[in-house]
Amino acid sequence: MMDLLRMRRSIRKYKDKDIDPRTIDDLKEAVLRAPSSRGINPWRFFFVTDRELLSRLSKAKEHGSDFIKGAPLGVVICADERESDVWVEDCSIASIILQLAGLSLGLGSCWIQIRNRSYSRDRSSEDYVREVLGLPQGLKVESMIAFGYPDEVLELVHRDQLEYGKILQR
Ligand SMILES: Cc1cc2nc3c(=O)[nH]c(=O)nc-3n(C[C@H](O)[C@H](O)[C@H](O)COP(=O)(O)O)c2cc1C
Repeated sequence: MMDLLRMRRSIRKYKDKDIDPRTIDDLKEAVLRAPSSRGINPWRFFFVTDRELLSRLSKAKEHGSDFIKGAPLGVVICADERESDVWVEDCSIASIILQLAGLSLGLGSCWIQIRNRSYSRDRSSEDYVREVLGLPQGLKVESMIAFGYPDEVLELVHRDQLEYGKILQR
C-alpha cells in the first residue's frame, strides 16, 4: 500500500487500448468492498465503456472533464440520498478505493468532480450527466472517474515535498 501511495498521481492521458474484462471485474469487486456508514451502501456505480457516451460525458463542465473522452472506461459515482445522509462520504471512500485498486492493476485514473459543479450558467453538471445516462431524479451524482492504461508519466512527489506542517500533535 505504501508503494502504491508513493506512486499515485492523477493520470489524464490514456493509451488507446480497451481495459481487460477481468480487470474491470476486479474493479467492480474492489468498489463493492468499500466500507459505508452503517453498511447501507447507498451508491450506484455506472461503468461506461461506450465511447459515444464517454464523449458526451466529457462535456459535463467547462473545465476539467474533457479528458474522459480519451479514456476506455469511466465510472460515474452516484447515490440515492434518501438511503443515507452521509452518501457523499460513502461515495468518496468508494472512489478512492476504486482508484487505488485501479493503480494496483496497472491503470491510471483521475477524479472529475460533478457534485456542486455547473454545465452552464443555468444548468448543473449533475443534470447534464443525469440526462446523458438517463438517471432517475432520486440519484445524486458525485463524480466520474476516468480510467485507462497511462500514456503520461508524472513526477512523483518526494517525501520532502509533503505538507508535514498540516500534521499537528497534541
Ligand atoms: C474531490 C476531488 C475533485 C477533483 N476534481 C477534478 C476535476 O474535476 N478535474 C480534474 O482534472 N481533476 C480533478 N481532481 C484531481 C486533482 O486535481 C488532483 O488530485 C490534485 O491536483 C493533486 O494531483 P495528484 O492527484 O496527481 O496528486 C479532483 C480530485 C479530488 C480529490
